[in-house]
Amino acid sequence: MRSQLAAAGLLAATSASAAQPGMQYSGSLGDILGQAASNPLYTYPTQLTQGIMPKAFHSHNDYWRPLPFWSALAMGAVSTEADVWLYNGTLHVGHEQSALTKERTFDALYVQPILEVLRRQNPDSPFVTNGPTKNGVFDTVAGQTLYLWVDLKTDGAKTWPYVVKALAPLRDAGYLTSYDGKTVTPGPVTVIGTGNTPLNLVQGVSPRDYFWDGPLPTLGTEFSNITKEVTPIASTAFSAQFGDVRGTGGALNETQAALLKSQVETAHAKGIKVRYWDLPYWPIGTRNAVWRTLWDAKVDLLNVDDLQGCADFWENLG
Ligand SMILES: *[C@@H]1O[C@H](CO)[C@@H](O)[C@H](O)[C@H]1NC(C)=O
Ligand SMILES: *[C@@H]1O[C@H](CO)[C@@H](O)[C@H](O)[C@H]1NC(C)=O
Ligand SMILES: *[C@@H]1O[C@H](CO)[C@@H](O)[C@H](O)[C@H]1NC(C)=O
Repeated sequence: MRSQLAAAGLLAATSASAAQPGMQYSGSLGDILGQAASNPLYTYPTQLTQGIMPKAFHSHNDYWRPLPFWSALAMGAVSTEADVWLYNGTLHVGHEQSALTKERTFDALYVQPILEVLRRQNPDSPFVTNGPTKNGVFDTVAGQTLYLWVDLKTDGAKTWPYVVKALAPLRDAGYLTSYDGKTVTPGPVTVIGTGNTPLNLVQGVSPRDYFWDGPLPTLGTEFSNITKEVTPIASTAFSAQFGDVRGTGGALNETQAALLKSQVETAHAKGIKVRYWDLPYWPIGTRNAVWRTLWDAKVDLLNVDDLQGCADFWENLG
């Protein structure tokens, strides 16, 4: 993990203060290559996420990773997810009640780290004359939004107002994708409520800077009133739609393939992106076959538990 972060510049960026201007070009090629973190010539303000190419991954159960948010960022995941529980007015992050701690709050694990990255990607600079900038978390593709899914585990109506409040630091900095009742203005972070998030606290509310995870299978029927202004990305459980595909090594039969096609087409016709969760994670061959099938069917986000496995898969997607 440490080496991943170092490669991503996440550690190097913190030790960039030892500037040695006189040392440019000195020593061997090895010495010059070794100066990357200390020579001001080879450092720049927004290099925290230098070289990380954004990938269409959703970091599922992200808070389980060694470093929630940071691990997924280092891998280039454009989408991340926090399960939140409301206790005494504070949102705690974890998969189940036994996993919660006082310190692991939504603010500490997600809001503040994201804000820190965005501050670094949007520095005060004499070179920016039409600022302030609204760069996203990825230095390589500044226009890429980060999808932040907030999965409400406690009562939706009671919990959602605390989520809205907890987003204030990102909101005040102007970093949230927003909707004014007519148009969506893209920002560095797009918040999507899921789990117990009540539809009526999102749909019909404007202005707002949060969205709702729409039910993919019923976008054409029961939930036909859902627009892309409410749901930028819809989702559903792969297992519930397609059953257990391990017997076929992940291959879909004609009926299943037709269902996948129709769900993706219905969503895309409305300008809504698509994600399936609860994918098989083993055997690896089956998992990769499912990722490939979904990708070929134009699913927009691959749900990922094993970030490294998906990064390797991504390299070979071609
Ligand atoms: C919530 O507050 C009550 C009353 O002060 C306290 O007994 C309880 O331990 C608190 N729960 C948590 C998770 O902090
Ligand atoms: C949209 O449809 C859903 C599902 O039928 C319903 O619960 C919701 O109230 C509808 N929203 C509006 C604004 O009519
Ligand atoms: C496809 O697979 C599903 C789930 O296993 C099954 O219920 C269905 O009968 C199959 N359809 C065809 C055409 O084989």
